[in-house]
Amino acid sequence: MCGIVGYTGPRDAGPVLLDGLRRLEYRGYDSAGIALVTEDGDLFVEKRAGKVAVLTDALGGGPPTAGVGLGHTRWATHGRPSDLNAHPHSDCSGRITVVHNGIVENFRELRDELVAGGHTLRSETDTEVVAHLVEDAYEGDLAAAVRAALGRLQGAYALVVMHRDEPDRLVGARLNAPLIVGVGDGESFLASDAAAIVAYTKRVIFLADGDVADIRPGSAVVTDRSGAVLDRPIDEIQWSAEAAEKGGYAHFMLKEIHEQPAALTAAMTGRLRGDAVCLEELDPIAKRLAGIDRVEMIACGTAYYASLVGAALFQEWLGVPARSTVASEFRYSPPPIDARTLVIAVTQSGETADTIAAARLAGDRGAIVVALTNTVGSAITRESHASVFLQAGPEVAVAATKTFVTQVATVVMLAADVARRLGRLPAEKDRELVEALRRLPSQAARTIEKAASIEEVAGRYASAAGYMYIGRSFGYPAALEGALKIKEISYLHAEGYAAGELKHGPISLLDPEVPLVAVATRSAVYEKLISNLMEGKARDARVLAVATEGDTQIERLATDVFWVPDTLEPLSTILAVIPLQLFAYYVAVKRGRDVDQPRNLAKSVTVE
Ligand code: F6R
Repeated sequence: MCGIVGYTGPRDAGPVLLDGLRRLEYRGYDSAGIALVTEDGDLFVEKRAGKVAVLTDALGGGPPTAGVGLGHTRWATHGRPSDLNAHPHSDCSGRITVVHNGIVENFRELRDELVAGGHTLRSETDTEVVAHLVEDAYEGDLAAAVRAALGRLQGAYALVVMHRDEPDRLVGARLNAPLIVGVGDGESFLASDAAAIVAYTKRVIFLADGDVADIRPGSAVVTDRSGAVLDRPIDEIQWSAEAAEKGGYAHFMLKEIHEQPAALTAAMTGRLRGDAVCLEELDPIAKRLAGIDRVEMIACGTAYYASLVGAALFQEWLGVPARSTVASEFRYSPPPIDARTLVIAVTQSGETADTIAAARLAGDRGAIVVALTNTVGSAITRESHASVFLQAGPEVAVAATKTFVTQVATVVMLAADVARRLGRLPAEKDRELVEALRRLPSQAARTIEKAASIEEVAGRYASAAGYMYIGRSFGYPAALEGALKIKEISYLHAEGYAAGELKHGPISLLDPEVPLVAVATRSAVYEKLISNLMEGKARDARVLAVATEGDTQIERLATDVFWVPDTLEPLSTILAVIPLQLFAYYVAVKRGRDVDQPRNLAKSVTVE
């Protein structure tokens, strides 16, 4: 939520920052701005409501030449999207500029205090107080002033601060919001994530909460808030700048849907050994796993739907109570948690504030916490005893696709491995699962090959008033995810419902304008699902079914069918969701929506 980028070095900073902002735009696109200290030593600021393209237009012939600067793309929290509320924000003297991701929770009190002290604050944002606090604390050393100001802040922040009179220096700080340092050859960067800077350097320092980074062209010093120098390792980013480009596709979402076979292969790499699933990331906690007597999964949005598959399998294979809870609710009614509870936090970004808070609560109560994330170095990895990475590569479109299918594949592997370690997964079942997992990438590819016919069907359904998605058992998470995709990118109402619940209320929504989308793949609950499908058909709803190749019955019942290959039931969620992703994509395109950057959303949700 909000993307920030800073640069100091021999390149012209303006284009580096604008390029970084374009790559960070998925984090928020309510406004964008940059600040530079120009060659003449002046502070240049340009900021606009709207997307980075609006800022670029406003810059006309481009920003002035500069060796240092910072930039921001915003997802509004405090203060509506406007030029005035756009970041960067400055102090009274106009020498200090700040960009911020997060929320300063005590900003009203700080604002009153600053105004009483003679400061003039111009915007409605929480961020502006930071510039003025740094101004008060400044005695010629920007890092010292930032550290002093941080002591006054409550809430969450990733900050980058620049002072006109120290024109080769930027100071960054983080607490509960992501910030990394890019270590280049004679140049340094600060950024919300690696996508912004990977074209320039792959060497990064993942800052931890409480860290303050003081960067200059040839150095990056990390301290704590008291100024004590910390030894933070430099990590190497494993993917290239091209991985975060559209590569000829009309949208990132379409590209990422097509990347799913490769992403599934990557997610399984090193984890299928002979006839067994083995996640070596669990080795260090193997002894503790032996004693678990319940499993709690926590996640938000798409990740929550993926976690439902995991909870069902942990319960079935381990024979212990297992459930999944939306992370934002978990804290209000926490279950009994102790050292025998395995808590699994599923989060693509690793930065979702609600998931992190829930994982922290679980850790504080003694649980074994395992993170399942796509982001090496992310905050969730610090709350966890073990981290299992999706290995899906960067996902840029706001609507998750390849990270959903890899989350499902990885929670399945996780449940299988824990069950095997505890001696509760028969070798035969493990072997069968491994074989099915190995088939998945090519089956996913076969499903994606049908994109043209899905596009054609989407054309006939794109003017619907709304959609009702239903599924049972492992089809239920696919229905939820399919409905969420429609909502997010086409701004149409779609309900994802447990098929058996249809008759308890939402069936009244069905009519010829509201199609029923039924996940009806081969399963133990197939017949019951068909009954629900018939209930919809009897209400004149058009029925769009996702069904298993070779199902001759469904063709007679449904108006249209998306065919998927057969697989094991727990893996059917993965194949069933693919046509629903494509369907949502083409409906949104036909309705002229901004597929990659849908309104009101941001990819990484770092506020609670
Ligand atoms: C939907 C989507 C969101 C995220 C949710 C959690 O397409 O992307 O629902 O799944 O915000 O994000 P992570 O997985 O980063 O914790």
